[in-house]
Amino acid sequence: MQSNSSSAEYLRDVLLVFLFFLMSFKLLQNYIKQWNLSRNLGKDATLDIYKAYRSLPSPPSFPFIGNAINILPKHGMLQRLVNLGIKHGHCFKLTNPLTEDLVFLNSPEAVQAILSSHEHLRRGHLLEKLWPSEMNSMAIYPGGEKWKSMRKILTRPFMYKALQIHNPCFYKQCERMTSQLEERFVNGNSAVNIVDDLLKQCIFGMSSESLMGVDLEDVEDGAKFCQNLDLFLQQWLIRVYRPWLLIPWIWNISSSRRIMKDSLKGMTNVILNVLESYKKRLNEKPDDEDLNNNTMAGVMLKNGIEPVTIFREVTAMITIANETTPSAAAYALFMLALHPNHQELCRQEIDAAFDDPSKCQNGVLEFEALKELKHLERCIQESLRMNPVTGTFRTLEKPLRINEELVLPSNVSVVIVPSMIHNNPKYFPNPEQFEPERFLPENVRERHRYAYVTFGAGPRNCIGMKLSMIEIKVIMATILRKFEVRTPDTRESVQLELDPTLKPLKPIRFTMKKRILT
Ligand code: HEM
Repeated sequence: MQSNSSSAEYLRDVLLVFLFFLMSFKLLQNYIKQWNLSRNLGKDATLDIYKAYRSLPSPPSFPFIGNAINILPKHGMLQRLVNLGIKHGHCFKLTNPLTEDLVFLNSPEAVQAILSSHEHLRRGHLLEKLWPSEMNSMAIYPGGEKWKSMRKILTRPFMYKALQIHNPCFYKQCERMTSQLEERFVNGNSAVNIVDDLLKQCIFGMSSESLMGVDLEDVEDGAKFCQNLDLFLQQWLIRVYRPWLLIPWIWNISSSRRIMKDSLKGMTNVILNVLESYKKRLNEKPDDEDLNNNTMAGVMLKNGIEPVTIFREVTAMITIANETTPSAAAYALFMLALHPNHQELCRQEIDAAFDDPSKCQNGVLEFEALKELKHLERCIQESLRMNPVTGTFRTLEKPLRINEELVLPSNVSVVIVPSMIHNNPKYFPNPEQFEPERFLPENVRERHRYAYVTFGAGPRNCIGMKLSMIEIKVIMATILRKFEVRTPDTRESVQLELDPTLKPLKPIRFTMKKRILT
């Protein structure tokens, strides 16, 4: 027994020493590459266009690890980045000998230069390395024809006209959630976390049904899909924070990889079953407009795309939706719980819509009526300004001119962390204040178009923006119609961290008091 465990330890130590040398070699190799690049940029007079790039502000860096300490550990990373943005202004650089330099853009003008470009669409080396191969999909394609044609095919099911037909399914999922909320809060008002189960399940149901045209509750093992997806993502995230797992052979023998494969098998079976039943329905009604054009699965089948590609696209979409929209909905609810005056204003317009028989039937608001919930929409936008869930990456494959002086060389990675711009008083005065009026049309017109980049912008912006805004609006309208929402937490007590999307350090707690509707 003892000799077994000591030989296991011996093996582990040998492996660690081997890993240490492997990583040192990799670091040295990258360091020499970066050093050569900067030496050439410095020497060659013809490359003088990079003068401004070379003198971009940057915190002190260290040999081999560059500016790693400015990014890692993940705890406090967001605040450190925001502080660097305040200190260094519209653009600063962090060196990274392991991969490439990271340039952070913090002004709408600089952000416009990259996001409006049709030439700089590559997401980034690091993301490409980390992205699970089983989800190799449009979201990670490095631009080019393949991305363009898939983006074109997938644009249609995310348009208002297509999303409209899913309206009843959105309310069905919300009804399931609110009846569980009623049960949860029936015995009083103790504050609980509703995000990690109820809100997530509800959004998962909404997204999966609108993308695939099938309620996963009605499919064998469908309910397990969400658990498998969570398991899959957890293993993926382990990889983000353990760089040695980026080495393919170590990754392939790791327990994380094994768990990932098992969870993937469960998900594959569900999606293949869904596609089969979808095909059957299509065969029965080949000309059905809704089936053909209004779900992602239908549009892809119609375009003759193979099941394996459909699987990857659908899984990637559901994953992205699950990683972003529940947090966004939770922050919006949190902001309204913290600001009862705005909650009341939202409720007035929500009640007016629900009480109007021309806009609401059997508890389901007409799709068009959602557009009239204007204050609610502004509150969601303001919440997303203060709590932008995710950011944007690009790796430059050719030089990019940011302004008269500054040209970024190819091979650097550009990062846009919306919190940096959204918290700059130059674009949003009193940025720490919750002021939904910032999104009144007259105020939006006065602002730079690229000052608000919660959903990115330009040709590669978020394809799911309308879907997620509708989902959040329906959820908020349903909850505020039935409950008064409060929270014992404060913005300070619920610190947000990049993990890798914005997440609270501690779960947000809510209390809900059922309203008596006459
Ligand atoms: C509040 C929720 C969401 C936020 C804040 C958000 C934000 C973003 C951002 C910042 C980008 C990068 C844009 C760029 O690189 O320029 C993006 C891309 C993307 N988002 Fe979203 N997103 C949300 C919800 C969704 C949902 C619900 C879906 C799908 C169902 C989705 C699908 C995608 C896809 C596929 C891309 C990649 C587009 C491409 O590469 O062409 N997102 N999102």
